[in-house]
Amino acid sequence: MTSKVTVVGAGNVGATTAQLAAAAELGDIVLIDIVDGLPQGKALDMVQLGGVKAFTGSIKGTLDWAETAGSDIVIVTSGMPRKPGMSRDDLLAKNASIVKSVTEQVVKTSPDAFIIVVCNPLDVMVAVAAQVSGFAKHKVMGMAGALDSARFACFISQELGVSIEDVKGVLMGGHGDDMVPLPRFTSVAGIPLPELMQKSKIDELIERARKGGIEIVNYLGYSAYYAPAAGAVKMAEAILKDKKSVISCCAYCDKEYGVGGAFVGVPAILGAGGVEKIVELKLTKEEKQAFDESAAHVKDLVVNVKKFL
Ligand code: LAC
Repeated sequence: MTSKVTVVGAGNVGATTAQLAAAAELGDIVLIDIVDGLPQGKALDMVQLGGVKAFTGSIKGTLDWAETAGSDIVIVTSGMPRKPGMSRDDLLAKNASIVKSVTEQVVKTSPDAFIIVVCNPLDVMVAVAAQVSGFAKHKVMGMAGALDSARFACFISQELGVSIEDVKGVLMGGHGDDMVPLPRFTSVAGIPLPELMQKSKIDELIERARKGGIEIVNYLGYSAYYAPAAGAVKMAEAILKDKKSVISCCAYCDKEYGVGGAFVGVPAILGAGGVEKIVELKLTKEEKQAFDESAAHVKDLVVNVKKFL
């Protein structure tokens, strides 16, 4: 049976997600927004793109949640994007209420869906979607690690003059300035990064990856969308095609890494069961400390967000 993917929010991230999902032939795509004309117009343009480069599956733009009914995956991109001078955390109150009302609609229309959250502050918005939906924890997750590790890979490939597709890495913690790229677990075609690059240069690139979002906000005046959308589609594809892909993403951790019950960035196996397993790495004391600090920051924000729900 053809899968159905709903993308909530027809802004830059949402529309690009819908386009990439259609190009990856993930199934029938529904793009929903509250601004009349926006999802319909963008979806129609994407359908016509099929006349230039054909793909299977339909694309529909709508304002009506009934059209999303029975989705296998709902990708939530709706929310305020960052402006220059804003941290992701500054979006907390506004986006919490948006994610809450979107999630309530998802519960009504697609009670069996997986939810992939993309809006910021990412890890907290995943917690909101999980709490409001009451869905099993392996069915709710957030896209951040795929983007942040792609950024780290981009800077490494530029520095070493190697193909970006050869660079693979693991990134943990929250989607914020304290995210934790792990050079020991980053490789270029299997060669560990520390064999190829001085520590001082690695540290410089880690810092650039941490600030990778704001670097783009400062150019554009709003948030990045090509790479974030690609990250979300990669996760959806892993689930719909049961690929068992290992992807760094925001997933629920209880005993894992001693988190004790929170959604935070970790390497996870994504397949037909959603988040099928958290991959537990043996971290050094320093790595574990950096992860714990980042997870503690996420937990603080989750406590704060409760007053907006
Ligand atoms: C970024 C936003 C999407 O990192 O969080 O670009």
